[in-house]
Amino acid sequence: MVEHAGCPHLFVGKRPQRPHYCSYIQVERLLDTFPATLSSTEDRLFYSFCSSSVLWLHQQSSDLGAVHDALTSKPVQFNYAEACKRLRRCLAVANILSQQSLLARAIAHGGRNQAGLRVAAGATLPLLAQTSERMQAVASLLERRRKHKPDAGDELDLTMTMLIDCQQQFEARTRQVLQAFSSPEASLPLSDLVDAGALLESAQVTLRRHHPQALRRGATHDELLFITSHQVFEMWFPSVLALLDDAIDQLLSERPALTRVEATVRRVQAFYRLFCEMIQMPQAMSAADYLAFRSQLEGGSGLESVGFRALEITIGQRDPILLRNLLQMQLNTDELATRLARPSLSDAYLAQLHRAGVIADPTDLEQAAKAIARAIRPTGAPNPHGELMALGETMLELEQAMETWRRNHLSMVDRMIGYRQSLGVAGDDPQPMEAQGCPVHAGKKDGRPYLLQTLGYRRAFSYLWEARTRLREEDMRRWLGAPGTLPLPVQAVRPPRVPVVEKA
Ligand code: HEM
Repeated sequence: MVEHAGCPHLFVGKRPQRPHYCSYIQVERLLDTFPATLSSTEDRLFYSFCSSSVLWLHQQSSDLGAVHDALTSKPVQFNYAEACKRLRRCLAVANILSQQSLLARAIAHGGRNQAGLRVAAGATLPLLAQTSERMQAVASLLERRRKHKPDAGDELDLTMTMLIDCQQQFEARTRQVLQAFSSPEASLPLSDLVDAGALLESAQVTLRRHHPQALRRGATHDELLFITSHQVFEMWFPSVLALLDDAIDQLLSERPALTRVEATVRRVQAFYRLFCEMIQMPQAMSAADYLAFRSQLEGGSGLESVGFRALEITIGQRDPILLRNLLQMQLNTDELATRLARPSLSDAYLAQLHRAGVIADPTDLEQAAKAIARAIRPTGAPNPHGELMALGETMLELEQAMETWRRNHLSMVDRMIGYRQSLGVAGDDPQPMEAQGCPVHAGKKDGRPYLLQTLGYRRAFSYLWEARTRLREEDMRRWLGAPGTLPLPVQAVRPPRVPVVEKA
């Protein structure tokens, strides 16, 4: 019997029996672990930081455990290619962990709840220490094997080099966490902050159903990687959404603190950059590894992630094709409907431009583009809308990061499944859309053309992009270098040409 555990959404689709992403990834179970006592956005971010660290460290621990078991089994069952794959994966996780902790440190410095982060960051230290010990144990085993099997020199050297890379990355990450909080002894035990058991159980529920052999020590953990790669996103989405809500509320308030809004949007952008790294994680398994369990995925696809949709809708991505797709896929949940009815970041920015007298009509995007082009051109005098324009630049950076996520996801998908037919709800559509040069199978829409279509959505901040086109070259030339304008770009200084004296 199919278990639709803890899923509140009604994605009926064309195959009503098919459990969707929510129950496959166990999103509801994961979100339930967010403690009700988290009151501020920063607290939520710290929780996301701790819980996603727990999930990543568990993945790393499974991979190190598999290498360790292979080295200690009798007779030794050591497959170097497999060990290198797992260590490469550990290295990729270590990179993400270090990017995460840099973000956490930035929150600690910029935030009001510094004590919160100190506690949260400190709490992950015991887990980091455990992983570090595990790496050391694997290093000792490899060293021993090197002595006893000198003929396997190259392969062992390669494995060892990779392990050393992992250890170095890992130490750097631990240092960053240590720097983020000054008094380790003041930190709470992890168990007071995060119910690691409940978090890890959410992956086990699905694995027990699909791939029970993955639960055995040393067994293949590739489906665990696939699940974890999605789960960590789901642990960040609500917190990043809370950041966005803060920025929108502030922008819609009577006297918004624009520099604060700009700093908040910059943080959202930084999280999207982290997402751009995270979306490459599934590539830490091969296309063949993925294919081995793909048919067991029951159709679940990130396409159905309500958290992801909530983020893009709240930022202002409301392309009519996206909205039509949501309806077609029956992803129009109450949560999304509420968010669609509320002003997005883009709407709030336009409202503020209107209030500041930059634009006359917040719904006329063409006029907004023209007005912004006027407002960003240098005039020789201080810009009266400087803060609003700086916020616009940060919003553009955010949209660039969103687009990078999409492109990274698409190239990862190409590498993992090529042009295979979609498993997600997109594959339920009996009306194949323009195939854009890709094969369309038996009236079904492939994931790839769908993803290509999403690259063409109208941009959330289209008027900010359009303002670039509207800038007039002659206006720029006129003010180049005038007082009060930005400094000129530094020109490369060429050394004076020394005349060549012909020898007599
Ligand atoms: C082996 C790994 C993955 C493969 C092969 C894959 C494949 C696909 C495919 C084919 C689609 C198109 C829709 C569909 O047909 O279902 C899609 C959509 C999507 N996937 Fe993935 N995916 C992978 C991992 C991930 C991960 C880790 C995430 C993280 C949350 C993710 C998030 C999404 C999202 C949000 C969409 C919808 C994009 C949109 O509608 O704009 N995917 N994926």
